[in-house]
Amino acid sequence: MDKQPVEDALQVQALAIPAIHMHLTAASMQVSQQDFEKAQEQLKLLKKDPGNEVKLKLYALFKQATEGPCNSPKPGMLDFVKKAKWDAWKSLGSLPQDNAKQKYTELVSGLISAESSSQVPGAAAEEGRHDGYENIIVNTQNNITKITLNRPEMKNAISHEMYREIMKALEEAAKDDSTIVVITGNGDYYCSGNDLKNFTNIPADAMEKMAKEGEALFRDFVAHFIDFPKPLIAVVNGPAVGISVTLLGLFDLVYASDMATFHTPFSQLGQSPEGCSSYLFPKIMGAAKANEILLFNKKLTAAEACAHGLVTEVFPNRTFQKEVWARLKAYASLPKNSLAISKQLLRGVEKEKLHAVNSQECEVLKERWLSDECLNAVVAFFQRKSKL
Ligand code: COA
Repeated sequence: MDKQPVEDALQVQALAIPAIHMHLTAASMQVSQQDFEKAQEQLKLLKKDPGNEVKLKLYALFKQATEGPCNSPKPGMLDFVKKAKWDAWKSLGSLPQDNAKQKYTELVSGLISAESSSQVPGAAAEEGRHDGYENIIVNTQNNITKITLNRPEMKNAISHEMYREIMKALEEAAKDDSTIVVITGNGDYYCSGNDLKNFTNIPADAMEKMAKEGEALFRDFVAHFIDFPKPLIAVVNGPAVGISVTLLGLFDLVYASDMATFHTPFSQLGQSPEGCSSYLFPKIMGAAKANEILLFNKKLTAAEACAHGLVTEVFPNRTFQKEVWARLKAYASLPKNSLAISKQLLRGVEKEKLHAVNSQECEVLKERWLSDECLNAVVAFFQRKSKL
């Protein structure tokens, strides 16, 4: 997609990072002041432009952290840059300055760690990068195709567009020269699950349509994992929520940082399990544990997820990238066809069953998405800031 018109409209230059710092005010004496100042310094060291969405968020958090809620008059509609900045700041509502500092610091740290992890040997580098993706980074190197979920400012929540991109990347990876395929996240999160914005701004008379399209999209998405022909490995770099957890039963290996957690808050959201987890989780960990996780929203640490068989191995966060990628590089030098055929043997036994489970889960989800329980939970999520 050509991004130029959007960038022109936002006048990228006017939003460049140094401009954010032109708005520095005398810093308040907060506990996290030192970290906050360090984050401002670190931001200047970023080599890659993080994109307008992130820069606006940084700007808004910075203003909120240093000046408090936005009280300045709304700029005119035609003043695109000022209006975009004002909107971003205003959207933070009454978020306390301490929280804004914290979020600013976390966002910068996510950007820095994402950039440094992309410099780890075997991780995403420009060489071997596939074109045509906005929300993910796809890269093939050393017989490994790596799909990186790349919306760190949204904790890698999966928008509809992103579901489609992941499916496209899996289709390409199935056919490319790689031996193994890896999915990981950019920033501090692995993935925060389905983007709850997928349920917002839908006119009342379009709800049925939204739910129907969502059902078809989810079914297709999960089917891509059921049918994926090569070894598929999850490198869980941080917390995982919702569908990013339920799908793990369809991966062949799951390596996790000890900073990762695994959370499926379905009943909290008035929803129901997907990703074949209603069948695979009880099979992997036994009904007693699966019920606690899928019905009662129990969040697992990486060590617990490993003890219950959902995760293959846990690594200290400090050495996670290095150790995991060294291991994956070795796996990727094994005979490609033998690996693919063996994986298909293992999966083939119950592929039909998995497709049936997937269809049923998506059918139930469609009804859930139309329920008051679900809609109220989504509204509550987006209103949570006003309660801070
Ligand atoms: N859908 C939509 N937006 C999401 C999201 C999701 N799944 N996950 C994170 N975000 C957004 C937040 O709204 C926030 O955006 P904002 O700054 O414009 O308000 C941004 O990503 C950063 O998240 P934030 O909530 O500020 O970070 P946190 O560290 O306090 O909390 C989570 C992180 C993931 C625990 C929290 O965002 C969350 O609970 N998200 C929803 C997860 C979920 O229920 N997923 C669906 C499961 S079925």
